[in-house]
Amino acid sequence: MGLYSTYIFPRMLELALGGRVPTEYRHQALADAAGEVLEIGFGTGLNLACYPRAVARLTVLDPERLLPKKVARRIAAASFPVETAFLDAERLPFESARFDTVVSTWTLCTIPDAAAALGEIRRVLKPNGRFLFLEHGRSDDERVARRQDRWNGLQRVIGCGCNLNRPIDALVSGAGLRIARLERFLMPRTPRLLAEHYLGCATV
Ligand SMILES: C[S@@+](CC[C@H](N)C(=O)[O-])C[C@H]1O[C@@H](n2cnc3c(N)ncnc32)[C@H](O)[C@@H]1O
Repeated sequence: MGLYSTYIFPRMLELALGGRVPTEYRHQALADAAGEVLEIGFGTGLNLACYPRAVARLTVLDPERLLPKKVARRIAAASFPVETAFLDAERLPFESARFDTVVSTWTLCTIPDAAAALGEIRRVLKPNGRFLFLEHGRSDDERVARRQDRWNGLQRVIGCGCNLNRPIDALVSGAGLRIARLERFLMPRTPRLLAEHYLGCATV
């Protein structure tokens, strides 16, 4: 990892996604998390304070070790055990049907092979498990989507691999997960090309 991705990017992430409004959406996204939970793309641990009491144990993974001291403090403050792993979501080292809940917030935009990661999510979820997601992605407005396509190359550099234009609902369904609930909204006070959001729950 370079200086930008180690020091600057995680602080930008904290500023952009750690404020009051994104935190309110995190609480909404995680409200149904319960039991054995897996979170992919853990980042700097901003979800930790947003999990409900029903979580028994949280396993988190991310290929990068971002802001390790801050993350350690957040983990220490959690009211449930947290296990960390430095791994890609495309190949999960867990047995099938292990988790009650899998969580992804602002991560499907970045995972190089999101379809493979979603296939793994489906595999590790119990038959009655839930995939909870809160993601930005492709707009349904074709003019906006074309601008997202145009600016995607630059975003991938600034956002350390983040894509503006992924159709999150199609990716989730394409992996064989059933979308049980989906809310589309524009994140307030966010540049238009990044504002298009998908908040939902999918089942196996
Ligand atoms: C925009 S950040 C979001 C962090 C966190 N989920 C949040 O809500 O604040 C995207 C995260 O995806 C992680 N990531 C990148 N490639 C990944 C992969 N192949 N598997 C899992 N996570 C990945 C990045 O390291 C980064 O922490």
